[in-house]
Amino acid sequence: MDSKISQREQWTSKLGFILAAVGSAVGLGNLWGFAYRASQGGGAAFVLLYVLIVLIVCLPVFVAELALGKNAMASSLLAPVKLGGTNWSPLGVLFFLAPIGILSYYSVIMGWAADTFFHSLLFGLPKDLSEAKEFFGSVSSGSSVLLGHSLSLVLTALIVSSGVKRGIEKITKSFMPILFIILFMLTIWAGSLSGAWEGYQTFLFKFDFDQLKNPTTIRNAFSQAFFSLSLGIGIMVAYGSYLSKKSNLPKLSFGVASLDTLVGLMAGLITFPIFLTFGLSDSISDSTIGALFISIPTGLGSAGILGRIVAIAFFGLVYIAAITSSVSLLEVPVSSLMDKFRFDRNKSVWLVAIFVFILGIPSALDTNTLGTFDSVCNILLIFGGFLVTFFMGWVVPKKLDSEIDVSKVGVKTARYLKFMTKWICPPLIAFGFLISLFDLLKGWLS
Ligand code: PFF
Repeated sequence: MDSKISQREQWTSKLGFILAAVGSAVGLGNLWGFAYRASQGGGAAFVLLYVLIVLIVCLPVFVAELALGKNAMASSLLAPVKLGGTNWSPLGVLFFLAPIGILSYYSVIMGWAADTFFHSLLFGLPKDLSEAKEFFGSVSSGSSVLLGHSLSLVLTALIVSSGVKRGIEKITKSFMPILFIILFMLTIWAGSLSGAWEGYQTFLFKFDFDQLKNPTTIRNAFSQAFFSLSLGIGIMVAYGSYLSKKSNLPKLSFGVASLDTLVGLMAGLITFPIFLTFGLSDSISDSTIGALFISIPTGLGSAGILGRIVAIAFFGLVYIAAITSSVSLLEVPVSSLMDKFRFDRNKSVWLVAIFVFILGIPSALDTNTLGTFDSVCNILLIFGGFLVTFFMGWVVPKKLDSEIDVSKVGVKTARYLKFMTKWICPPLIAFGFLISLFDLLKGWLS
């Protein structure tokens, strides 16, 4: 047992963990999903629901996942069994499979981003919407999409094979500051556009109360919150297992959730002014999964050389954000195989990567399939969040207690978190899950 614990790697510092966790959280979900879902319906109502879900539901889930990993000191596959017995092995299996499912299409979208980045850099931007659609068609089909998918996976695999400290922590430490600098500069630039104010209004202030009752908006807000914070699928269980004994879990969770939400909001403050300045409102309202890859290049294409520079920065940013998330998605199944079968890291990495590549081929070849995978995985995350809070709140509440250090967080916060995990999160998440499931099925059947 002791030797097993001493073999587990640990983050070198608190900052190392925070950057890795923020790296996992900030990704395509913030830069592509947030604006896409906000524009799909809801606008400000979506943003409000999203923030409420993060504060009320996701923070306790975050702490519960970290506590599970830190207490069990095991991979996401084995942690639920270690604390709760073999009845809980399905939760471990969910944690093993869900990241594989997400990574299989996540790396396809990373391929689109890389292709758009290189196209902007080497050849320039499309002249109008129809050229942009044609360009996206070429990016998202044929051999280039398989190339993008495979190269993104290879890059991810190379980083994960270097380990937690030398791979994941090192890459996130160098990439996250760059990401924040680009994001900040782009937000300022977007604020100088003529349609900036109109963009902010559409995104943040046009409040349609009916949207709060719209199941699709509720589903989008739940999915976005869980996806964006990388919750419900064992990532934070794995990352929590590399934390030192002294860590203050609520504080860490709050820090990561705040930074992630800030990035989602900033991405909206960049994309909405672009949409409205360059007359792309229509392309937002009938947005598809490829919206960002069509409307952003179209808008920037009409802004001359500066537009091109911004496009290069934007898609570079998207790729940097995505790679720090894809490594977290790969780390979960890899550490699980290492834990369960005593495989070495390299062997686990390449086994999983090859499997993910094959699983991703249907999504690479058809954007509708990719959309279906995305919808199903998003609902699985919500379900995973429900199970985690139920598990930590009802099945092993003492373990949760022991991981919330009252001397550090204070009696009130500790009580609040335990109360939320036990009484509020399971029913609220179950509600979000059922609404999302019905909405998904309704969409499929209609
Ligand atoms: N949070 C990442 C994003 O917003 O793009 C993606 C992601 C990573 C989702 C890890 C889920 C996950 F477990």
